Amino acid sequence: MASLKDDVVAALGKVASPDGKPLPQTGTLSDIVETDGKVFFSITVDAAAVQEWEAVRGRAEAAVRAVPGVKSVMVALTAERAGGAGTTPPRRPQMPPGGGAGGPARASGGGPPSPAGIPGVGAIIAVASGKGGVGKSTTAVNLALGLRDLGLKVGILDADIYGPSMPKLLAIREKPQTIGGNRLKPIERHGMPVMSIGFLIDEETPMIWRGPMVMSALTQMLREVEWGTLDVMVVDMPPGTGDAQLTMAQQVPLKGAVIVSTPQDLALIDARRGIAMFRRVNVPVLGIVENMSTFVCPHCGKSSDIFGHGGARHEAERLGVPFLGEVPLDIGIREKSDAGLPVVATAPDSPHAQIYRDIAARVRDGLRDESRPAPRIVIEA
Ligand SMILES: Nc1ncnc2c1ncn2[C@@H]1O[C@H](COP(=O)(O)OP(=O)(O)O)[C@@H](O)[C@H]1O
Ligand SMILES: [Mg+2]
Repeated sequence: MASLKDDVVAALGKVASPDGKPLPQTGTLSDIVETDGKVFFSITVDAAAVQEWEAVRGRAEAAVRAVPGVKSVMVALTAERAGGAGTTPPRRPQMPPGGGAGGPARASGGGPPSPAGIPGVGAIIAVASGKGGVGKSTTAVNLALGLRDLGLKVGILDADIYGPSMPKLLAIREKPQTIGGNRLKPIERHGMPVMSIGFLIDEETPMIWRGPMVMSALTQMLREVEWGTLDVMVVDMPPGTGDAQLTMAQQVPLKGAVIVSTPQDLALIDARRGIAMFRRVNVPVLGIVENMSTFVCPHCGKSSDIFGHGGARHEAERLGVPFLGEVPLDIGIREKSDAGLPVVATAPDSPHAQIYRDIAARVRDGLRDESRPAPRIVIEA
């Protein structure tokens, strides 16, 4: 008896590539993930050929949707960075201009309609940064663990669909199981449920997401995952402050946002944009974390401020948002983080773990303040 996956492959055999080959013979298809009638796969093509392949992607999706037994289908078109001269591969997803991603249109200055909450989930907080590589994901994981150590029930949603980090940071290689036919069971790590698009697709593949897909992936991870009862869900946001991030900030029912920045001026400019973005969608900024602050030399014990020091604290004061703490630039944090052994879980007695727990306590207190029914000042963008 043919499996549903075989039927899907057969259906894809009738879809032709731009040069007329049956799709399964083009070498562009990823593994086809099928769980209870939900089909997910990606087509990886040369960045220069993305335009012609977009139509193929649409036809592939339609063909699979027509297969009896398929309940839903998501086909991601991803681009390989072309090595050829003269081509600039699009590294960022091709988002339609503002409001085109299926989100509610937002009139500037108007009060945004709040997205519905997730049943059973208390506060959802975003960990965001103006740019990548500042340690956002490392902070997200250790902050989540710090909140857990305060006795809260915490979950982690990796919403950085362009560069999912949770498979690596938490050493997760297994794929999530489905329960009850149409819901996914998150992966459990250190007592926390975790969900990442990286569990479903190859994390090394640079992805080009179309606007509506971004939202459908996010909505699925948020609402079709069995999160259980949580006090706090920590969301690792994609870096940047463009349309994609804005749409996400609008679509996820956020209680607050934590901004991660390094101390340099340039990173701080991005952090400032991040704060402005959350204010625009009326999400309270719980504060700024200065990451890769002072460097303590493991050999001589001397501190030096490689990226400067104190910039984020100063910026927080200037912008009137709480300063949550400084995490030093430390080789141990990097090694542990990259080995999937976050410092708060694996070296709970270290000074670094304590720093993250202190940050977590300030975040928790900030959430309490935000839930107090005090008159709120709405800041205009
Ligand atoms: N405080 C720190 N000290 C040393 N290395 C760090 C620190 N924070 C993050 N890193 C390292 O920096 C790199 C980028 O961090 P990551 O959390 O993936 O950033 P982002 O999510 O912002 O792209 C990783 O290799 C990580 O281990
Ligand atoms: Mg990251």
